[in-house]
Amino acid sequence: MSATAPSLGLLGAGNMATAMVSGWMKADPGMGGRLLVTDRKSGRAAALAERHGLRHTPSNAELVEAADIVVLCVKPVDVERVLREVSDLVTPRKAIASVAAGVSTATLETILDVDAPVFRFMPNVGVSVGAGTLAYSAGRFTDTAAEQMVLEVFSALGEVVPLEERLFDAATALSGSGPAFLGLIVEAFEDAGIVAGLTHVDARRLFLSTVSGTAALLREDDLSCSDLRRMVTSPGGTAAAGLAAMERGGVRGSIIDGVSAAMRRAGELG
Ligand SMILES: NC(=O)c1ccc[n+]([C@@H]2O[C@H](COP(=O)([O-])OP(=O)(O)OC[C@H]3O[C@@H](n4cnc5c(N)ncnc54)[C@H](OP(=O)(O)O)[C@@H]3O)[C@@H](O)[C@H]2O)c1
Repeated sequence: MSATAPSLGLLGAGNMATAMVSGWMKADPGMGGRLLVTDRKSGRAAALAERHGLRHTPSNAELVEAADIVVLCVKPVDVERVLREVSDLVTPRKAIASVAAGVSTATLETILDVDAPVFRFMPNVGVSVGAGTLAYSAGRFTDTAAEQMVLEVFSALGEVVPLEERLFDAATALSGSGPAFLGLIVEAFEDAGIVAGLTHVDARRLFLSTVSGTAALLREDDLSCSDLRRMVTSPGGTAAAGLAAMERGGVRGSIIDGVSAAMRRAGELG
């Protein structure tokens, strides 16, 4: 492991790699010199490298040799083959960080020839703007220095939430698929705003600001959701009327059902 800022080698240059590179470059434009990318043959790595001023290596082997942290960004089905190809180049002084859904640290450790520090993340698309949510778990052979190095790098992408690996399917459903669920909800509120007479632009502006303000209030004041609702819901008032109609419509139950279905699906794919 290098004493200076670590170099990162991304195996794979698809959607998630692109999102993470955007997040890292936003956090620190100087990071370009420490990022290397490869792909299978699509040319996406070269395009990503050109867009952000990164290095694109022609082979996975060259990338692994140069990287302090090897970031596995290939599809879960490709993980074993890609990691096996380079496993003789992985030393205990390099860290492996995988974002592959459903692939455990134990599986990654079994594929590798050596007892290298292995870390698993489940990021969401918010990483591309440095506001991601990343469930995180460490494997068996980690040490404090490797863990600090990896956490420092991934914390630049958003909030890193340590979790037992058995809970990763739940995190995949809640925060991994969460942006899709919230996209649906924001869209529904935009539609509701339009029905109420607002323009789409104004409805979106009002509601997105309400979402981020509510999240900030819940977080900074450590308020419970029920206390927040009571603060806003005066007897016989507008919020009371709205909440009663939403609860009759089964909003809460359908959200719980949706997240449960996503979690079951994550388990089937893993
Ligand atoms: N997308 C998400 O929102 C999301 C969220 C959480 C986790 N993840 C995880 O992120 C990982 C990548 O997902 P994705 O959506 O980014 O997939 P993707 O867009 O299909 O990208 C996969 C990348 O892997 C590359 N690849 C495949 N075989 C390779 C090899 N032998 N050597 C080097 N590169 C190789 C592909 O190369 P080519 O470009 O040449 O085909 C491609 O660039 C998955 O494991 C997924 O579970 C994704």
